[in-house]
Amino acid sequence: MHVFVTGGSGQTGPTVVAELLAAGHAVTGLARSDTAAARLKSLGANALRGSLEDLGSLRGGAEAADGVLHMAFGGDFADPDDLTRRDTAAIEALGQAAAGKPFVSTSGTLVLPGGRETTERDDPDAHGIAGFRIPGEQACLGFGGSVVRLAPTVHGPEDHGFIPMLIATARKSGVSAYVGDGANRWPAVHRRDAATLFRSALEEAPAGSVLHGVAENVPFESIAETIARRLGVPTASLTPEKAATHFPSPFMARVFGFDGPVSSTGTRQLLDWAPTRPGLLEDLETGDYFAAAA
Ligand SMILES: NC(=O)c1ccc[n+]([C@@H]2O[C@H](COP(=O)([O-])OP(=O)(O)OC[C@H]3O[C@@H](n4cnc5c(N)ncnc54)[C@H](OP(=O)(O)O)[C@@H]3O)[C@@H](O)[C@H]2O)c1
Repeated sequence: MHVFVTGGSGQTGPTVVAELLAAGHAVTGLARSDTAAARLKSLGANALRGSLEDLGSLRGGAEAADGVLHMAFGGDFADPDDLTRRDTAAIEALGQAAAGKPFVSTSGTLVLPGGRETTERDDPDAHGIAGFRIPGEQACLGFGGSVVRLAPTVHGPEDHGFIPMLIATARKSGVSAYVGDGANRWPAVHRRDAATLFRSALEEAPAGSVLHGVAENVPFESIAETIARRLGVPTASLTPEKAATHFPSPFMARVFGFDGPVSSTGTRQLLDWAPTRPGLLEDLETGDYFAAAA
């Protein structure tokens, strides 16, 4: 299949592009800069110049392809309505142009309610941490596309997500912190396992599938303890009020204190997906997290 990919030049995208190419698919990736185009070409993909704001480039890429994988996401995180507008406009352009073709879009498990283990059948929470992604999910599903909700931590080499932020905060403050008793559960998936899920979703997912890219749910205290040991700093339990000033923003404190365990049993059964790569705590021990953050 010839797949049009957005976000192929980001953190997760290149691993997904490599997975698609290795499986024999051809890939054209959206590139908004020379750097992004060069990254895609170095992987063996073609680059199509354009951007999420240039809806014509999205339509052109989707029309010329046999399937579409949408991973790009961006905008002003201080303005959730802006994020929603950009995301839904891009998904609508892609979805219209990809009518009748496999179409997979990306979201995150932080759309789901917390406090209990949620499944692919649970409704997202409009008032939740990532409620701004729900209209995009609904738009994609409305076009007969499938949605992959990624764990908040997609870990692997050169991660620039939440875990490096935790490590940097622990280095700066001298404590590796968690909120309350740290029993809140944190979904995680290795980037290469996420890549096999995206490929399977494109190849096999029935129209309208909601898929969970989650390999495990890790108690947050275990993450904080591993970071503490690797850095040689103590752990600290913070109240939500103290966490709001300890972490880089009140929003991040809310994310790090969130108990959002997520099941991927339905996804594994539907697509025969089986994560095999190292878990988050093993990756913290053996990966590049502490070299990269130093
Ligand atoms: N990584 C995680 O832990 C995680 C967790 C949950 C959900 N997700 C979701 O998974 C997807 C991929 O995540 P990621 O970590 O790989 O993201 P990332 O590293 O931030 O990369 C974002 C990608 O989107 C592209 N992009 C952003 N704004 C664009 C625009 N206006 N026009 C064209 N391209 C644009 C970027 O292009 P450039 O290369 O030009 O910057 C890049 O390829 C995103 O939807 C993200 O929200 C990720």
